[in-house]
Amino acid sequence: MVEISHAIPRRERLIVALDVSSVAEAQALVEKLGDSVRFYKIGLEISTSGGYYELLDWLVKRGKRVFCDLKLYDIPETVRRAVANLRGRGVTFLTVHGDRAIMEAAAQEKGEMKILAVTVLTSLDKRDLEQMGYRGEVSQLVLARASGALAAGCDGVIASGLEAPGIKSAHGARLLVVTPGIRPAGGDRGDQKRTVDVAQAFGNGADYIVVGRPIRDAQDPAAAAAAIQATMAGFFPS
Ligand code: C5P
Repeated sequence: MVEISHAIPRRERLIVALDVSSVAEAQALVEKLGDSVRFYKIGLEISTSGGYYELLDWLVKRGKRVFCDLKLYDIPETVRRAVANLRGRGVTFLTVHGDRAIMEAAAQEKGEMKILAVTVLTSLDKRDLEQMGYRGEVSQLVLARASGALAAGCDGVIASGLEAPGIKSAHGARLLVVTPGIRPAGGDRGDQKRTVDVAQAFGNGADYIVVGRPIRDAQDPAAAAAAIQATMAGFFPS
């Protein structure tokens, strides 16, 4: 039986990825989604648009939670100093890659932020790992990185819904599981390979889900977000 954490306000468990190319577009999407979304992820695409901090501050001012998905990867000292730069701005989550020294450096400087370690990108499968020289199962590598993340002082991991049960049974509430790669069963997966639907993700023990294109590209993004919130209501009381 997978342990489900109820401590997180239900509506915050849906994190919408603002994968758009300008601050104006991001703000328009946030306005459109209104109260159906309380938590936003600002990642690589918007980070090169020229308005990253402007958008971050705008979201915080509107009472939204912000996840900086910068997937930091550099020598530990550079990561440490980059993490320190983000402190005190109202950021809730920040991602780093799951190498031990990088995770430790980030955890050391995290302040009020929660550090999430990327285990294995949800766009990768066993064959991709083989091309990188790794011969084991994806799930083994994800679990090893999750254990490393906890030992390094991180607060959670990014992992697909397929690996969430293993992580939760090993670490329970000590490690948050944030799950991207959310797709309706049988739907278009795009570049994502290890996908689950909303109900599977939470049923498997994810604490949060990250949804990008299924909301951004929906005919009615607010209705798509509301439908996800309705599914979540079946799992969490409030
Ligand atoms: O559009 P889609 O729902 O696939 O977007 C998923 C988001 O989650 C993207 O912003 C992507 O960068 C991010 N992400 C991911 N897999 C990871 C970590 C982050 O898809 N392992």
